Amino acid sequence: MIGVAQEGASVSITGLGCQVPERVVRNDELSQYVETSDEWIQERTGIKERRIAAESEALSDVALPAARAALAQAGLEGSDIDLLIVATVTPDMAFPSTGAILADRLGAVDAAAYDLSSGCTGFMYAIAQAYGMLAAGLATRALVVGGDLLSRILDWSDRSTLVLFGDGAGAVVLEATPGGGFLGFELGADGAGGMHLWLPGSGSRIFDDADKHVKMNGREVFKFATRVLVRSAQDVLARCGATIDDVDVYIPHQANVRIIEHATKKLGIPSERVVINVDRYGNTSSGSIPLALADAEADGRLRPGKLVLMTGMGAGLSWGSALIRWTKEAA
Ligand SMILES: CC(C)(COP(=O)(O)OP(=O)(O)OC[C@H]1O[C@@H](n2cnc3c(N)ncnc32)[C@H](O)[C@@H]1OP(=O)(O)O)[C@@H](O)C(=O)NCCC(=O)NCCS
Repeated sequence: MIGVAQEGASVSITGLGCQVPERVVRNDELSQYVETSDEWIQERTGIKERRIAAESEALSDVALPAARAALAQAGLEGSDIDLLIVATVTPDMAFPSTGAILADRLGAVDAAAYDLSSGCTGFMYAIAQAYGMLAAGLATRALVVGGDLLSRILDWSDRSTLVLFGDGAGAVVLEATPGGGFLGFELGADGAGGMHLWLPGSGSRIFDDADKHVKMNGREVFKFATRVLVRSAQDVLARCGATIDDVDVYIPHQANVRIIEHATKKLGIPSERVVINVDRYGNTSSGSIPLALADAEADGRLRPGKLVLMTGMGAGLSWGSALIRWTKEAA
């Protein structure tokens, strides 16, 4: 799916917030659980540490402060929101949705609230969907949360996945703006590759031996990631009549620094325009892009007029890009 923003339907991000759990887990600590080393993890992934949620925390607990920060930045109350989407594969529970739980905790009474599941691409799908509902006049102010506590579904004895992921959440407010904002989206999925990154036993399909832990064919996912990050970005840029030279801030999914470096090189974007925080958070799945957006804002890169390119990819296998002309003054 690919498309550009409708004429006269400017929708932008007017608030941004993020939250990560307090506990920092460095690579060395993981070698207590599996045979690995700080050296291997840093060399193959660029990850140094990640955050891991406390036992008492569920996704909505981590997402709530992120959502509150995004609302505060937009100058809104929870009651101003009429659409709340939570992109996640680790909701508090299958139902009620974490969207409904969060809407209640924020006072977003009567807002449409639900969860959206598309692995690490979830946040990109969710902002495209919120954009569409706002542009169509179905909603007026949307809160989109991307977050996951992947530590809950990892096999803590499987070194091929344990070292890659972390917990965290980010949130954005979407509203109509006089100009600028989202310019276009490109989203897609290839279910044929789905079994390269999956969670057997997590739904209605019955497996004899499912242990409800993430399974991954790292090499296949690596090949897929390097391919789609480049192609999806190029497609959305071309459809919007932009080139990579126009992009001021590039936010790729934070899975592995080698994947990001590959995409950066192939796209031909200078490294100083690329946002990288996978070293501090690992891959936070649906939280990855909004956490990186928050980092870019914190270091002063997100200013009105800047062209921001975001591309996510993950389970599905799926991918998604968005191009946005930033409109919000830094907090
Ligand atoms: C997982 C990934 C880091 C592995 O890197 P790689 O360079 O492909 O490494 P390989 O899988 O070839 O493994 C190399 C060796 O390291 C070993 N190894 C794997 N994980 C290890 C770990 N955590 N610590 C130490 N050694 C490890 C392997 O067993 C293998 O040993 P062998 O050569 O004796 O068989 C890489 O494939 C990757 O990033 N894939 C994409 C994953 C991803 O992003 N998933 C989420 C997408 S949203």
